[in-house]
Amino acid sequence: MNITKTLIFFCLLGVLNTAFSQQRDIPKKVDALLKKMTLAEKIGQLNQYNGDWEATGPVTPDVGNKLDAIKRGEVGSVLNIVGVKHTRVFQEAAMQSRLKIPLLFGQDVIHGYSVTFPIPLAEAASWDVQAIEKSARIAATEAAAGGVHWTFAPMVDIARDPRWGRVMEGAGEDPYLGSLIATARVKGFQGKGLGSLDAVMACAKHFAAYGAATGGRDYNSVDMSLRTLWEIYLPPFKAALDAGAATFMNSFNDLNGIPASGNRYLQRDILKGKWGFKGFVVSDWGSIGEMINHGYVKDNYEAAEAAINAGSDMDMESRSYIKNLAKLVADKKVSVAVIDEAVRRILTKKYEMGLFDDAYRFSDAEREKQAINTREHVEAARDIARKSIVLLKNEHQLLPLSRDLNSIAVIGPLAKLKKEMKGFWALNIGDEKEIVSLYEGMQNQGGKTKLLYAKGCEITDTSRAGFNEAYKTAMQADVVVMAMGERFDMTGEAKSRSDIHLPGVQEELIKAIMSTGKPVVVLLMAGRPMVFNWTADHVPAILYTWWLGNQAGNAITDVLYGSYNPGAKLPITFPRTEGQIPIYYNHFNTGRPARNDNDVNYTSAYIDLPNSPKYAFGHGLSYTNFTYSNLRFSKKSMLKNGSITVSFDLQNTGKYPGEEVAQFYLRDLVSQPVRPVKELKGFQKLMLQPGETKTITFTIDKEKLAFYNDKLERITQPGEFRLMIGSASDDIRLQDNFVLAD
Ligand code: BGC
Repeated sequence: MNITKTLIFFCLLGVLNTAFSQQRDIPKKVDALLKKMTLAEKIGQLNQYNGDWEATGPVTPDVGNKLDAIKRGEVGSVLNIVGVKHTRVFQEAAMQSRLKIPLLFGQDVIHGYSVTFPIPLAEAASWDVQAIEKSARIAATEAAAGGVHWTFAPMVDIARDPRWGRVMEGAGEDPYLGSLIATARVKGFQGKGLGSLDAVMACAKHFAAYGAATGGRDYNSVDMSLRTLWEIYLPPFKAALDAGAATFMNSFNDLNGIPASGNRYLQRDILKGKWGFKGFVVSDWGSIGEMINHGYVKDNYEAAEAAINAGSDMDMESRSYIKNLAKLVADKKVSVAVIDEAVRRILTKKYEMGLFDDAYRFSDAEREKQAINTREHVEAARDIARKSIVLLKNEHQLLPLSRDLNSIAVIGPLAKLKKEMKGFWALNIGDEKEIVSLYEGMQNQGGKTKLLYAKGCEITDTSRAGFNEAYKTAMQADVVVMAMGERFDMTGEAKSRSDIHLPGVQEELIKAIMSTGKPVVVLLMAGRPMVFNWTADHVPAILYTWWLGNQAGNAITDVLYGSYNPGAKLPITFPRTEGQIPIYYNHFNTGRPARNDNDVNYTSAYIDLPNSPKYAFGHGLSYTNFTYSNLRFSKKSMLKNGSITVSFDLQNTGKYPGEEVAQFYLRDLVSQPVRPVKELKGFQKLMLQPGETKTITFTIDKEKLAFYNDKLERITQPGEFRLMIGSASDDIRLQDNFVLAD
């Protein structure tokens, strides 16, 4: 080793050692600090208030001057305070408290901070975990530069009900895809680890089963078997935890009669017990106090007792802890040890974030200016937005559009809107100039093609007054592009809908425009799967563009003209109508399965509606075609601890370079308890040039065949399995059986 190398080696060692010893010392530092704290100061750490502007929940009567409460050591964290300037004011107050314990600033950085990315459900449609991780990384970089320490994301709730407004915030219906995306998002938010200046703490939410609200009505009760909980709803949480999620948030719902905030089984037995979670749990907004409405406790005193003993460490906005914990300790209903444990968890995170070294380390105005809205972030937002667009239908290859068209009529209520492109949970709207509407995107790339425009109708209004003008405008154009869908506040928290049809008179406008005989492309912009049967059956080309964020217009235009070939796949089933809900691809077969959509003779079917969805989980087309062939197994029988390798060839047989998401599903043919007709167990997204063939290999091992039995043990059962490989859950191209030997 020469001298320079030796020096570098020792410097590196020094750096690593310091980092390591700081981490190693944290438990000691926390203990030392705990010893200095009064009970009141400890309880203060468990209390979280909303800031003084944006409210993301019902506002409770003010507690008086929050800055004074912070100075008295009564607050451990504040949410919805953003920006270096603003957070500094609050941190300065904390630095005037007796022990100078820094505050944690939390915010719902759900899909971007300043540069807004597609809504999470849209990003999930990309099936591109690297891109999703990058989007979270950028969001974290911007948020951390803006003074935020902690994002209340990712939401990893599985959702099988598109009436539920919060489907937009998760990764859809599948536990396997959902788990990979949960991992990607946690890694993206936390970057190189807590303490890095561009990392924010992640928060896996909402623990647990919030997405299964009865009837899709937000905040509603959840009643489900524990086996479904473990099989379907918990895996993404476990994945988030394994990826290092610093915090968890519990949820509003009751699970089988026990509200999540007071649920010992969820928080103590599973999360902190079996899974060994070392971070802390924050309640959802007011959810501890809401246990009174649930009828689970009589008052806030009992609510605080139930929540802290069940393992909820921090009280967001219900004020139950700050008002009652001291008395509960005096009354011996809550032990100091339980309080200490919660405080220890919170202080540990504050140390790991480096806030005790420098409470203002995320309050650098210069960094804030440099890090936000960079060109690189904007480019990344455009890239993931393109990757999120699903080509639902493309008859006669209407898309991509030629650049030689004389004119395009852009019609529809969403064509020129900007803020709507961001979607729900975009808290820092910023400057509207940063948002690209569809119309602007088309103007940017239109070349010589003349753009005509007519709004046609409003989003929800029932007036048809604009139809005539829209018809005339369409008549003058070579092609019509229609921008239809939901308003940004029609899907999101507390935005459940019983009717998820394309709102207002929009589908009538589509019919009117189709009657011109012009080629029509419909873009559907929404936060959830909508119902639009007439459009699906009659319009030749449909793109589901969700809400794509700041770069929506540019990204959609890239796809319209084919400078980007769409490759996204639906992460959630699209029903034919609300009566099919809940509908999901990984259902059981039942004792009387229908053989096809017309088979209603004493089968499990509706007499007025086919069983199949309008668009299945995993569906999504490309401008090119892919052929699957040559399925081969390394062997057809595997031992319990062995594995089988499966390969097949994927060829691009069309004209355009394109990406395909090849999906692998398994079915356990005979099992006790029974298993779903299909379960996603792997996928690969890959790019192929026209004519190119690639071989894809997939390994089946014990873990892929394992499931929870009725005792909630994870087991495998010998027997026959079917492997299905395809382009969508309803488009299986290759399949064969194999055996797990005894
Ligand atoms: C939501 C959470 C969110 C919190 C803070 C609640 O209403 O359910 O997901 O993190 O508000 O904004």
